Amino acid sequence: MRKKIVAGNWKMNLLQHEANELVNKLVSQEVSSEVIRIVFPPYLYISELLNSTSNLAIGAQNFYPKDFGAYTGEVSISQLKDLGVKYVLVGHSERRMYFNESNTFLKEKVDSALANDIHVIFCCGEPLEIRDQNKHELFVINQLEESLFHLSAEQLKNVTIAYEPIWAIGTGRTASSQQAEEMHACIRKSIIETYNQEVGDSISILYGGSCNPSNAKELFACPNVDGGLIGGASLKAEDFYAISTSF
Ligand code: PGA
Repeated sequence: MRKKIVAGNWKMNLLQHEANELVNKLVSQEVSSEVIRIVFPPYLYISELLNSTSNLAIGAQNFYPKDFGAYTGEVSISQLKDLGVKYVLVGHSERRMYFNESNTFLKEKVDSALANDIHVIFCCGEPLEIRDQNKHELFVINQLEESLFHLSAEQLKNVTIAYEPIWAIGTGRTASSQQAEEMHACIRKSIIETYNQEVGDSISILYGGSCNPSNAKELFACPNVDGGLIGGASLKAEDFYAISTSF
């Protein structure tokens, strides 16, 4: 069965005391146990926050796909596993854009996370010029083919996909529910064609890109939208709560 998920990507925001305050508020919120809530704080805060909560999972925004070694400044997937991290983001458009993470490198990251029993939230999504050329479906399916579709069906079940059109991230311009549903249905169809119906029916596909309390209900009501990956609005406890209760 597909899970309902609301994930908060804090990006490079918040000081430690603000992070603690936000998590304290989130932990005290009452949200249906059917909804999995995950937040992705900066690395520095992960180990402290991990111990604070059972109704809120703490994930990592990034990692380097090697276990140990001479990679100055990096944090490895096995170090995250050792801390008890259960979720990682892979393929966020900011990592693709600012840190040149290619589909091939992302494939390596996916493999390394799954080999360490860490669930992957894999982000995909097209830039505006690709949408304007009406090539967005091809573009996104190519991202999945190059980084995900080498996985076995069993492995893919430990992946959640987040469709995040780049033109909607941090811009206040959300995809319409129709645009989101079309792409989510296209992604699910490609999973069914590559694997089978059962796999397609079991993978959660989240929408991300200026999702907020006023548009979450409409987006989450789409048959193929199983929740959201939330940036800006995840930094406010009330907004994250409103989104988490929008199913
Ligand atoms: P946004 O970010 O909600 O601020 O648009 C979404 C994301 O980058 O995951």
